[in-house]
Amino acid sequence: GAARPRVTFLGTGYLGATYAICYAELGYEVLGFDVDADKIAKLNSGEVPIHEPGLDELLRRNLAAGRLRFSTDIAETADFGDVHFICVGTPQRADGMGADLSYVEASVTGLAQHLTRKSLIVGKSTVPVGTAEWVEQLVGKHTPSDLGVEVAWSPEFLQEGFAVDDVLRPNRIVVGVKSEWANGMLYAAHKGVFDLAATEDREVPLVVTDFATAELVKVAANAFLATKISFINAMAEVCEAAGGDVTQLARAIGYDPRIGNRFLQAGLGFGGACLPKDIRAFQARAQELGAGEALRFLHEVDLINLRRRTRVLQLSADLLGRRSGPAGPDFSGTRIAVLGATFKPNTDDVRDAPALAVAGLLHKAGADVHVYDPQGAENARRAMPELNYETSMADAVTGADLVCVLTEWADFRNADPVALGELAAGRRVVDGRNCLDATLWTQAGWDYRGMGRP
Ligand code: UDX
Repeated sequence: GAARPRVTFLGTGYLGATYAICYAELGYEVLGFDVDADKIAKLNSGEVPIHEPGLDELLRRNLAAGRLRFSTDIAETADFGDVHFICVGTPQRADGMGADLSYVEASVTGLAQHLTRKSLIVGKSTVPVGTAEWVEQLVGKHTPSDLGVEVAWSPEFLQEGFAVDDVLRPNRIVVGVKSEWANGMLYAAHKGVFDLAATEDREVPLVVTDFATAELVKVAANAFLATKISFINAMAEVCEAAGGDVTQLARAIGYDPRIGNRFLQAGLGFGGACLPKDIRAFQARAQELGAGEALRFLHEVDLINLRRRTRVLQLSADLLGRRSGPAGPDFSGTRIAVLGATFKPNTDDVRDAPALAVAGLLHKAGADVHVYDPQGAENARRAMPELNYETSMADAVTGADLVCVLTEWADFRNADPVALGELAAGRRVVDGRNCLDATLWTQAGWDYRGMGRP
């Protein structure tokens, strides 16, 4: 019944797999669906296809408890669930900045055609505002109207590396609904989260709103985060010109609680599967709606972010005494160690990773690039096979004329600059994430350059 509805998650990528597993952990009976038979087989045998701390253990425990199953059968999925969550990807369209909704369309259509009783379809994927209305029409077209299937929208705010906690202990739940029935079903589908919070003496705020607002909350939150990062990186540019130190500036402004000290880390900028693509899709959608002017600043946010990559190239050229030609600096004849390939630490994800992009630029400019990343090497090799991948920090640094630290892994933060100095051919380091102790590295004889620091 509605007290504990049976739930399905369509799409078992990063989002759907994490949600399916965590919902079983909350006590729900869960079915995960995907068209990819390989992924489904892996999940059913207890193997998580992504790297996310804590998820493996939860998967195995809940498979064993019989609360969790994965299937490629859409009819079975339709039959199983009272509430169906759509968690498929919405990648950037190949022809421009907007979002590709073909996976949403395919999964909703497939599901709707097999529904035989009243149930709720809930969108979770990040989509252009207006998609929920369109999904509702799609559902209307593919289900008999006497079934009374309804649609709702409930965005997610998962951060890679913290995804399990973000599902079990979200800082808010947002639902866009059109009826009391849908509102009640979604409340029941979130009850496990509220109950857990109560046992831990916390409260999870619930925002109940309309479709458009629910869809916008997600992209607005990501646009704000991207803007905050680009703001501090713009300050880094000014510090570079004026001779200031952006790390001290960030600390000083962050003490004002209205500003806050989080997401003020200047460096190589944001990447990943969400922020870059979401701010572009948001601009494209606003343009279509005639509100393009309101989001013109996001174009600037994007440009500031991309300029950070050029900055690392400039600093590298300065350190190596390379002059810039019209096509940028020439690095031929140099060996460069790139430490970090992922878009942030504690993940193996290299999608839109600034670190890997810079490694590629250095390679294009003639450098012999040797990359080391604690988790991301396999994905990086697939994305950029032309680079050399090493299995240790020492191997990457050995014989290098320059070291670029481009992802702030703890291993790099805690590395011993004296020992590394003995392996390198030249003690030159660009700290693309301002994560090293500049004093320690300088004392060990390294010529150190940070981002937005003198
Ligand atoms: C982000 C949002 O945080 C999350 O709420 C949303 O659901 C998905 O997108 P995620 O992509 O996992 O999550 O990464 P996040 O931790 O937000 O970092 C994004 C990028 O910003 C990383 O490349 C990171 O290195 C960079 N960043 C972050 C900075 O450059 N400076 C900062 O101060 C913070």
